[in-house]
Amino acid sequence: MKCTAALLMLVAAASAVSFFDLVKEEWNAFKLEHNKQYDSEVEDKFRMKIFAENKHKVAKHNARFARGLTTFTLKPNKYSDMLHHEFVHLMNGFNRTAKHNKSLYSKGQKLRGAKFVSPANVQLPEHVDWRQKGAVTDVKDQGKCGSCWSFSTTGALEGQHFRQSGFLVSLSEQNLIDCSGAYGNNGCNGGLMDNAFKYIKDNGGIDTEKTYPYEAVDDKCRYNPKNTGADDVGFVDIPQGNEQKLKEALATIGPVSVAIDASQESFQMAATTGS
Ligand SMILES: *[C@@H]1O[C@H](CO)[C@@H](O)[C@H](O)[C@H]1NC(C)=O
Ligand SMILES: *[C@@H]1O[C@H](CO)[C@@H](O)[C@H](O)[C@H]1NC(C)=O
Repeated sequence: MKCTAALLMLVAAASAVSFFDLVKEEWNAFKLEHNKQYDSEVEDKFRMKIFAENKHKVAKHNARFARGLTTFTLKPNKYSDMLHHEFVHLMNGFNRTAKHNKSLYSKGQKLRGAKFVSPANVQLPEHVDWRQKGAVTDVKDQGKCGSCWSFSTTGALEGQHFRQSGFLVSLSEQNLIDCSGAYGNNGCNGGLMDNAFKYIKDNGGIDTEKTYPYEAVDDKCRYNPKNTGADDVGFVDIPQGNEQKLKEALATIGPVSVAIDASQESFQMAATTGS
């Protein structure tokens, strides 16, 4: 009898330790994988707690997915040590209230893009994947910089440039971050795609990713016309919220620059879509 009791206690103690170790181990693996370092022990503990809570959120969400209650899964990633509001502050750089610089537009010139005209005599396909047609560069990472607007700009222009030239050329977000300030953009603190397209047009081009690589900080403008990868002659706006016109443009024109509300919590650790 004595022996059994001792054994039971040992098992209980061992499993209590292993639960804590498990969290600790996962935390250490996470830090290693994502190259995370914190200034203090206190900060480390605080981040570990957030990490554990986020893991719990992911598990709860994915259980809902398994029951068919949601259409996508979540997965822990390098943002798993951040509170949601920190993530939103860091990543969501599209600034709806940012201004156009009126002095850069001649009298009568439109502040916004041209009006989108629906294609006539076209039956839209059910699916279009511009990646398969070679019009889309690999996924890029904006890092710790609210520069989403610049990636949105390059993504659309890369697609149009590919459709015109047959060459897929990755374009420089850093060029836009550093050089389009006079157009109303604020680098890592947000901006508008409209302003970036206008800058590229007036500037006569945008450098390539290769010659003007990404730094994820505001830096000096170093545009070099010798390294231009593409230019544009303006842009066309799809009316906000008009998904029919968005579908028409996507199917018939190419990848479209969009700004979506990514402030919902599910964006922080989104993994897959269900369909
Ligand atoms: C958005 O832009 C406006 C106008 O330039 C500025 O006053 C505001 O601080 C910006 N908001 C953020 C969150 O950066
Ligand atoms: C608007 O553009 C003009 C001309 O390039 C420039 O001098 C001015 O500083 C810009 N305004 C802002 C708010 O960036």
